[in-house]
Amino acid sequence: MHPKHWSIFFAVLAIYSATSASASSPDIFPIRRGLTLPNLTLEHIDPTLPPVLPTQTPKCSVIALQQDFADTVGAPPASANYTQPPDCPAPWTRVVLELSVSASDLQKDRIAAVWVDGVEVLRTTTPLPMAPGAFWKVTKDITRYTAAIRRLSENNGTVSMMLENSNTVLPGVYSANVTLHFYRGAIATAVKPSAATGHATIQELYKEPADLIIPVTSNNGFYGSGFWSRIESDSQIATSLIRIPQNTYRAVLEIFVSYHADDEFWFGNPLRSSYLEGAANLSTPRSNGGFRQVYATIDDKFVGGHIPFMVLYPGSINPYFWSPVAAIGAFNMPSYDLDMTPFLGMLLDGQPHKFGLGVHDSQRYWLVGANLHIWVDRWSDATQAGLINYNAPPPKMNRNAEWRNQDGQSEIDAEGLVRFIGWVSSSKGNLTTVVQQKIKFKSQIEVQNRGAVKQIEVNNKHRMMVALMKGNQALSRVQLMMDAPMQIQTSTVNAVSGAVFQKTRLYHQLVEMVNLSEGQAVSIATLTDRQDAEGSALMHDGVPVWGGGATRSAYRFKDDSTCYLRTVNTAGGIVRLDTTTASCVSVADQ
Ligand SMILES: *[C@@H]1O[C@H](CO)[C@@H](O)[C@H](O)[C@H]1NC(C)=O
Ligand SMILES: *[C@@H]1O[C@H](CO)[C@@H](O)[C@H](O)[C@H]1NC(C)=O
Ligand SMILES: *[C@@H]1O[C@H](CO)[C@@H](O)[C@H](O)[C@H]1NC(C)=O
Ligand SMILES: *[C@@H]1O[C@H](CO)[C@@H](O)[C@H](O)[C@H]1NC(C)=O
Ligand SMILES: *[C@@H]1O[C@H](CO)[C@@H](O)[C@H](O)[C@H]1NC(C)=O
Ligand SMILES: *[C@@H]1O[C@H](CO)[C@@H](O)[C@H](O)[C@H]1NC(C)=O
Ligand SMILES: *[C@@H]1O[C@H](CO)[C@@H](O)[C@H](O)[C@H]1NC(C)=O
Repeated sequence: MHPKHWSIFFAVLAIYSATSASASSPDIFPIRRGLTLPNLTLEHIDPTLPPVLPTQTPKCSVIALQQDFADTVGAPPASANYTQPPDCPAPWTRVVLELSVSASDLQKDRIAAVWVDGVEVLRTTTPLPMAPGAFWKVTKDITRYTAAIRRLSENNGTVSMMLENSNTVLPGVYSANVTLHFYRGAIATAVKPSAATGHATIQELYKEPADLIIPVTSNNGFYGSGFWSRIESDSQIATSLIRIPQNTYRAVLEIFVSYHADDEFWFGNPLRSSYLEGAANLSTPRSNGGFRQVYATIDDKFVGGHIPFMVLYPGSINPYFWSPVAAIGAFNMPSYDLDMTPFLGMLLDGQPHKFGLGVHDSQRYWLVGANLHIWVDRWSDATQAGLINYNAPPPKMNRNAEWRNQDGQSEIDAEGLVRFIGWVSSSKGNLTTVVQQKIKFKSQIEVQNRGAVKQIEVNNKHRMMVALMKGNQALSRVQLMMDAPMQIQTSTVNAVSGAVFQKTRLYHQLVEMVNLSEGQAVSIATLTDRQDAEGSALMHDGVPVWGGGATRSAYRFKDDSTCYLRTVNTAGGIVRLDTTTASCVSVADQ
């Protein structure tokens, strides 16, 4: 992810390794090959979910793919033919993906994804391995993708994974195993199944997985550059032609994104006055401010968007923060659901329609992919549908910037509300779907002391409501709330030989609430995932040479019946504290 000069890494390291041994702070440790680190925890962890794996043994577990990723830049994804054990057929009550990876040596952090017959089921980042033998495991409930997994199992389909790695500068090879665990019968878990995905999605409303999942991609991922599309600018839209069954009664578009190169740290991009005045013409990238919105179109009509949750990559800010604990969402990057049901009237004619994916204000480059989840009415040959209300004004934007040379500040505010209403007539009756989305976003960047002190403050609030109505009566309704504030303070001092010593402090939080009401029954679930980190690093050309950091993570999940709190403190590459309790009371003040 970081096209940087790692060759200087070891040279500068040599200068500092002498000091590091006698560093007074126990939280400071060197990244260095061959050096025995003070009990560096090799297992990287994502302190999130209560075990997503059910407590019972699976009906069967299948290793779907085993692959070493050495020099894989530009290579097509690794793919393996899949065969379902005959004694483990569909249907399953639950399917869990387990991605187990180890790094043979030092390497940069990379983005990876796993596809089941072209349907993306996981977007993830690798940690930045700071010692040979670093390893980790990502588990994700993928029951939602049952339609794709069923097709995989019935037609001997293909499981693919892409991880573009390079050994040009660093020797690390990533070895990955992708395993699918299948469960039948009642499921016993620490939390109720709806919580198992770890992120609020509208699937809360739609308990049954979709009947069909269509990958929204024009690429032949098996041979080309993967199933994702590369978005290089604001004006680029990745399009594909999709035809859906004529008896569809519900559709949800799920979008995956990751951001790279000039937009790797988009939320920290200042807004330069020159950009505002139209003079920059993007000859100076990273100056167009910290707002991005991924959006979808059908036949060129805007059908919804989402400001992505800001997943911090393991190499960013201070890489020592993310060893051995992963940043929020880094192991299982969130995807974004847009309910397309109000637009079914445009799609039920049996013809292919143009689906588009774009990213507002984007620069090079974004990797976007999407799955169209389709529910069909088995009791009808054709359903009918129509759009009742379409209200999608562009968000109100406020952009301000004041700079004198390096110093100054900039601010971007965005506020928006969209609403789509449509009816679908099927064997279930003539039902109306109401979708409403509200965004409130603010990014502030301040630079002082001739560029030496930088402060980033972002707040990303999103509200979504999807209601299913029969006449004026709401049959069910889900409200999703996301609040994601982040603050980063960095101060830098120039050190010898062009290196920069930086001190950083970070606060990042993800709060998600789901409020589901069906008739008189209301259930509410809240997730609060928070990280506070502090540390320093000696950076050379953006690469950590020496440093340390301490991170406190608290993950709290609460619903009507469950409370789960996990607290993990790490410092100096070691887990210092890792506790789990079933009581949220003691942390009410956190
Ligand atoms: C490393 O672990 C050993 C055994 O667990 C312990 O005795 C020692 O104090 C630890 N060293 C550090 C620097 O934490
Ligand atoms: C997968 O199956 C296809 C078609 O049956 C075959 O051509 C290909 O060689 C198989 N790949 C592997 C790795 O076995
Ligand atoms: C992958 O599975 C093989 C056994 O099939 C095991 O030897 C290896 O250690 C596993 N690798 C990882 C990274 O889990
Ligand atoms: C899938 O593979 C199995 C075992 O090799 C074979 O019996 C079955 O006919 C294949 N199914 C299809 C649809 O090719
Ligand atoms: C953008 O800048 C480049 C180089 O500075 C220049 O050649 C080009 O004409 C500019 N484009 C516009 C649209 O101003
Ligand atoms: C379904 O209801 C909408 C109004 O909510 C109406 O406009 C439409 O004609 C109805 N469709 C059918 C097939 O009855
Ligand atoms: C949840 O939604 C119901 C109606 O759907 C509403 O009465 C209630 O106030 C909501 N609760 C919260 C905490 O938002």
